[in-house]
Amino acid sequence: MNSKDQIEALRKELNEYNYQYYILDSPTISDFEFDQKLKELEKLEEENPEFKSENSPTQRVGGDVVKGFETVKHRYPMLSLSNTYNREEVADFIERIQKVIEEPVEFICELKYDGAAIGISYKNGKYHQAVTRGDGTQGDDISTNVRTINTVPLELRGQGYPDDFEIRGEIFMTLQGFSELNESRVAEGLEPFANPRNSASGSLKMQDSSVVATRPLDTYLYYVLTGDNRFKSHYESIQKAAEWGFKVPSEKDGLLKRAKNIDEIFEFINYWDENRHQLPFEIDGIVIKVNNYEQQEALGFTSKFPRWAISYKFKAERVSTILEKVTYQVGRTGAITPVANLKPVLLAGTTVKRASLYNQDQIEKLGLYEKDEVFVEKGGEIIPKVVGVDYTKRHETAKPIVYATHCPECNTPLIRREGEALHYCPNEVSCPPQQKGKLEHFISRKAMDIEGLGSETIDLLYRSELVSDYSDLYRLTQDQILGLERFAEKSAENAILGIEKSKEIPFERVLYALGIRYVGETVAKKLAKHFKNIDAIASADFDTLIAVDEIGEVIARSVIEFFGQPQNLERIEKLKSAGLSFTLVEEEGGSDSLAGLSIVISGVFERHSRDELKALIEKHGGKNVGSISKKTSYVLAGEGLGPSKRKKAEELEIPILTESEFEKMITP
Ligand code: IVH
Repeated sequence: MNSKDQIEALRKELNEYNYQYYILDSPTISDFEFDQKLKELEKLEEENPEFKSENSPTQRVGGDVVKGFETVKHRYPMLSLSNTYNREEVADFIERIQKVIEEPVEFICELKYDGAAIGISYKNGKYHQAVTRGDGTQGDDISTNVRTINTVPLELRGQGYPDDFEIRGEIFMTLQGFSELNESRVAEGLEPFANPRNSASGSLKMQDSSVVATRPLDTYLYYVLTGDNRFKSHYESIQKAAEWGFKVPSEKDGLLKRAKNIDEIFEFINYWDENRHQLPFEIDGIVIKVNNYEQQEALGFTSKFPRWAISYKFKAERVSTILEKVTYQVGRTGAITPVANLKPVLLAGTTVKRASLYNQDQIEKLGLYEKDEVFVEKGGEIIPKVVGVDYTKRHETAKPIVYATHCPECNTPLIRREGEALHYCPNEVSCPPQQKGKLEHFISRKAMDIEGLGSETIDLLYRSELVSDYSDLYRLTQDQILGLERFAEKSAENAILGIEKSKEIPFERVLYALGIRYVGETVAKKLAKHFKNIDAIASADFDTLIAVDEIGEVIARSVIEFFGQPQNLERIEKLKSAGLSFTLVEEEGGSDSLAGLSIVISGVFERHSRDELKALIEKHGGKNVGSISKKTSYVLAGEGLGPSKRKKAEELEIPILTESEFEKMITP
């Protein structure tokens, strides 16, 4: 056998072992033998580089480091499902369908996997590309990362698959893998991930695929898009996908059910509501789909969802545990967040030690006493919350929680402004977490985007007193950074380069980076556009500020307060002399052809993503608004403009624009 044939035979053999191990869950050779064969293949590929292939089993270990992900347009929009939380709505869904389809309808019930949605395409039976959902129209090409997931086939089995098709599903992290990963992260002094879903999507966004390869990621695929009508039903497509080697849910393992009526659907829902914690991964509900493709087609889509499917989400889970104490966190803006420190308790598969209490009013509303037994709930959010108190368990001598009066970090008396829910530490200038938080905000991606510096470095720089506020960053030297723990020549050089490069960041982002309370990205853009430079903003009075579109009293007061502090003016002066940009550079190609117009965007477009359209509207002086009202000038409608939106636009006599009409409006 020549090397080429030898390589191909080995690849085929290893793909087969992989399939038996990961998809069928019944290995036919030992791990040792598998590794031997893999090494043999690696060696052959090394010796014959002309036969290397991206889709070889040797590539599962990753290795490619990418700088960023390319944006790819989805061939078919990647929609999500309409959610329901109660059973009546499921019944309504069935009834609605029966009204349209006047013949028997079969439903497929599946689990709703709680992970990251993915669309994977195959060409001529070979893994081609994997794209995230993104905004539904376009997503990130994360092919190199997804290739490392063992349950994603690199070559398809059997016959009869289309030459070019896409399969969609969910990538998630197993619970065991998640807890092991977090244990090792904590051991390394890293921040643990909040939940398996975040850690799955975080892993997929990493730039080094060899790290992704070590992450315990898995898949279930649930939607085959072939572009032709070779399949009569969803069920048939899933069965074929199984034959081709994909990991799909099956009736055999109870993860899928064909249901003829609502009772059978509820049987499935009830079963999994009760037994979901037996699963080795997290689910957050059940998905119910019309099986027959002709019936699916007859039902069609709304602007966002298919009418032939719905998801039933499980209710948030609740446990009770003891409140050990309330501590207070100080944020970047000085905002104080009370945190319930709890006796560790298992909730929805993770151990919970802390829960959010939001603010003083919330604590009073709960009527919280020291050492109370509290109910803790986890819904869709990352941090669980305290939702109630078991008053029957309260000790007679217990005392109510008294809210903090002083900052836990710098001991400055806290303030609470009238009409606001949160307390603040007013010591903006020297309260350590505020200083560090401001630095972190300053270097963050949407602000100065300083590569080579991260929150750990900021912490080191702050603690070693090299940097106490952002204006100090620009005086740092490579030697100073080299003196910090864990810094080598190269990384110190990168940090300095990153700082240097940030001097090119445009004014509106520098303004955002300053961390003025209530001045987010959008407000910063508005202020920059209106005032054109920092001195004009700094000297603007209240009336001038509120005269600007969308600048209200709260923002105006905050801006005045910021520029009223001498330390802030000093810092800005230092940044100016470091060469940062404090004057607006007008964007090229902009115009005021849409000046004074409010435009609502709806549906999916052919040539632009919604974000691009938003940017275009702004660039040409228009305003993008969320919902249709009397004040709307136009509705910019793509495919799938919802019937209710259309009706509203017609009622209010608001003209509807197509993508091309819009393009004409902004072309000189
Ligand atoms: S079907 C056209 N099936 O949940 C609709 N989605 O909120 C195709 N999901 O976007 C989706 N498990 O990311 C479908 N068995 C399942 C699912 C599932 C999880 C995700 C998916 C979807 C989202 C809907």
